[in-house]
Formats: sequence, structure tokens, C-alpha cells
Amino acid sequence: MPVQPSPVVMGIETSCDETGVALVRDGVLLGEALSTSMDQHARYGGVVPEIAARAHVQAVVPCVRAALSAAGLTAADIGAVAVTAGPGLATALHVGVSAAKAYATALDVPLYGVHHLAGHLAADLVDGEPLPDPVIALIVSGGHTSLLRVGDLARDPIIHLGDTLDDAAGECFDKVARVLGLPYPGGPAVDRKAVGNDPTALAFPRPLTGRTDSPYMFSFSGLKTAVARWVEAHPDSTVPAGDVIASFQEAVVDVLTAKAIRACRDHEIGDLLIVGGVAANSRLRALAAQRCDAAGIRLRIPARKRCTDNGVMIAALGDLLVRSGAAPSRPDLAAMPGAFLDHAQLGVAHPAQRAA
Ligand code: KG4
Ligand code: ZN
Repeated sequence: MPVQPSPVVMGIETSCDETGVALVRDGVLLGEALSTSMDQHARYGGVVPEIAARAHVQAVVPCVRAALSAAGLTAADIGAVAVTAGPGLATALHVGVSAAKAYATALDVPLYGVHHLAGHLAADLVDGEPLPDPVIALIVSGGHTSLLRVGDLARDPIIHLGDTLDDAAGECFDKVARVLGLPYPGGPAVDRKAVGNDPTALAFPRPLTGRTDSPYMFSFSGLKTAVARWVEAHPDSTVPAGDVIASFQEAVVDVLTAKAIRACRDHEIGDLLIVGGVAANSRLRALAAQRCDAAGIRLRIPARKRCTDNGVMIAALGDLLVRSGAAPSRPDLAAMPGAFLDHAQLGVAHPAQRAA
């Protein structure tokens, strides 16, 4: 009997300031489009939800058309629609969820609501190997920092080993950048300024790394304050700004990589996956590679352009769900701005939740 080809899955991402659309079938990326409203937020020093939502309204249909055209397909070729239902900015999520529902209804195809962070975990599934099962995953984005134990991403519950008690790693990069007078978004600016400078010039604190501290929890707000205090207290410092920045960055990536490797060791899992916007950081990538190598751990980090928000990660996760035989999400799928990451799919009753 001929094998039925998988449907083309369209993924839509609008949780923050990036409008991303991509088309994936059977783990192969067919076409993508990305539009960002980042420049419109720069003068406010952070994302303004209303501006982001308006930009998504303007960009989502053109992005769908551009992705289809890049793939050489038409809307009639779309066999399923996946969309970020949460977490994220409520105003921004509503645009993507509404668009996805409209396409799914008009084309009469199934709709899959997905968790944005699970999308990050799936970011390099296109044209790549399946994820190791199990894998320790470190998610480092603008709003989240978590250490997870992930099994079958499409089916299994996602186990949180630790999360941040306060600021996320990306948020810390963004806030410290602002203190240091660097442009928004702060992470890439810090990354660029740190290159070639001395990361050992200043010994900023490594939060929650004491012997009695929780091994997998994170805290970054004290580090942010430590940098701000140091800058205030040393107006005439001869320490070059690049060294201050490199020392701050080193404190963040030292803590992230040490805890991720500890989690792999403690759980006897030989694979580490690092995803999310901060995974684009060049020093994090280098230190993680060096430490994983020394510890005999296989490291997987998506290509830099797939670390920050995009439509490919959502289409890749939708494609994985479809190929795993997941049931579609409810047609009344709602945006869930505060969705907790316990399963990759949103808008369905998971077995554990059904039993509860
Ligand atoms: O995953 P993402 O695109 O959006 C969220 O889901 O939050 O992550 C955005 C975060 C921002 O805080 C940004 O400053 C940070 O990722 N980021 C970086 C780098 N590129 C983006 N942080 C450090 N170094 C980078 N190269
Ligand atoms: Zn993200």
C-alpha cells in the first residue's frame, strides 16, 4: 500500500515582536518568512504590546504569502495549521491565534495550538536529527529560564528540574544593557561588545551556586543589581566598559552551563539541548561546547538564526505532532499568555489533566 505523505504544516508565531510563518512537511522546511517590529520598540527600551500587536496584524498575511511563495505552494496545499497559543504578550498572541483559526477554518484543516517554549525545543528539527530521548534541555529566552527533562516531545509530560526565581537570563541581558547604555535588544549588543574583552576583569556574583543552594534553580535579578551598583559606585573607573560587559556576560553563562551540566550528570543523561534567544550568545555557545566536551556530554544548539523567535520552530513542532498522531487542538483554542510548559501542545486535554 502506498504510504500517505504527511500534510504540509503551516506554523505561525506571534508571541512577542516577531511575526514568523513557515511551512514544514515530514521534517523538511519548505519555505519561511519573518517580519520584526523590533525597530519600533527600540526607542521605548522594550517591547510595547500594542505596537507589537498592530505590527502582527499588518505582517501576518503578507508573511503567509511570502512563505507560500518561497515554498512554491498555494494555500490549498496547506494540510494543517500550528500556532503559538502561549505564553507571550496577550495582544500579540491573539493575532496569531485568530489568524491560525481563520486559515484552519477556511481551508478545513486541523489546528494545533503549541507552547512557545516547546517550539524553541523543536527549533532545529527541520533538516536535522530527531531529538535525543531523554535529553536535558536548557531554555534561555527573554521571558523564561528553565532546566528540563524532556522525553518524547510530542507525547510525554515535560519535567521542570529548575526555573528562575526572578528575572530570565535574556531579561537580565536586556536590563544590564540598558544600565550600560547599550541599545535594545540588549542581548546581541552585550554579545558584540564583550568580544575580545576580559571576562575575568571583575568578579560578579554567580547566584545560587553555593553548596546549600538549589542546584537547578536560577536567579538573575541580584546579578543585574550588582552590575548596576558597580557602575554607580565607580563613575571614574579605569576598567574599560568592554571588560565590565564581558565580566557580566561570563557570570551569566558560567552559571547557566554549570547547572545544565550538573543536571546531565545527576540524571545520567548524556545529551544537552540549549535553546531560546540567549542560546544565540557566542560566549554561551563556546563555553557550553568546552564544558560538554570535557564532561563527555553531546551538545545540541540550533543555528543562531533559529534561536530567536521564528515561524520554523512552530511549524517543526506542528509537523512533529501531526506525525506522532496527536489529535488536533480544540477549535475554540484561546491565547494563553501565562501558559505553563508541561506539554508541547496546548488546547487539548492531556491524560494527566483528564485524570485530575
Ligand atoms: O527566544 P526569544 O527570541 O524571545 C522570547 O521568547 O523571549 O529571546 C529573546 C531574548 C532577548 O532577551 C534577547 O536580548 C536575547 O534573547 N538574546 C541574546 C542574544 N540574542 C538574543 N542574549 C544574549 N546574546 C545574544 N546573542
Ligand atoms: Zn521565544
